[in-house]
Amino acid sequence: MRADELFDLRRRVLRADHPERSVQDPRDDEATSLHFAGLLDGRVVASASWFPSGAPINPDFVSFQLRYMAIDYDVQGRGYGTVVVETALDQLRNLGAEQVWANARDTALGFYLATGWLAIAGSEHLSPETQLPHTVIYRELMGGAPSNERSA
Ligand SMILES: CC(C)(COP(=O)(O)OP(=O)(O)OC[C@H]1O[C@@H](n2cnc3c(N)ncnc32)[C@H](O)[C@@H]1OP(=O)(O)O)[C@@H](O)C(=O)NCCC(=O)NCCS
Repeated sequence: MRADELFDLRRRVLRADHPERSVQDPRDDEATSLHFAGLLDGRVVASASWFPSGAPINPDFVSFQLRYMAIDYDVQGRGYGTVVVETALDQLRNLGAEQVWANARDTALGFYLATGWLAIAGSEHLSPETQLPHTVIYRELMGGAPSNERSA
């Protein structure tokens, strides 16, 4: 899936459908970026993009950053978010990923904590892009060494 095929869903679900707000990451078109989508009757209803990136925790781990996690309004709460993430993680593990991380919206934290991610205590911040409260989250993929950070 190309990044530009996800712009509409990113904009509607994550940028309040505002026509002028950015829905692009500078790494979107790099060969190492991975974009996952879920289609329902040909419509893109799920998106998750992953970028190789040093992580704010376990910096020695091969890590990918998740951005633009979005499920269309009318199909949220059906398990699609879980399926998109788990499908992506299977592929990322095969590529040698040891950890994933993200700046998670606090309104979505419950989703991540319910699906195996941990929050980094003290990482709460306002996103410079949206001004919404976020928390840094991560998930180890290889059963790696326990971290010293407390989980929320
Ligand atoms: C957050 C989001 C990605 C979750 O996807 P989803 O398909 O709706 O979630 P699922 O149906 O797979 O839910 C999995 C679990 O997380 C829980 N969950 C989902 N969204 C939640 C939320 N916002 N707050 C708390 N818990 C949530 C579900 O209740 C479910 O728990 P259960 O298995 O115990 O019933 C989706 O609702 C969404 O796109 N929201 C708006 C945009 C957004 O906030 N994106 C994340 C940006 S960081």
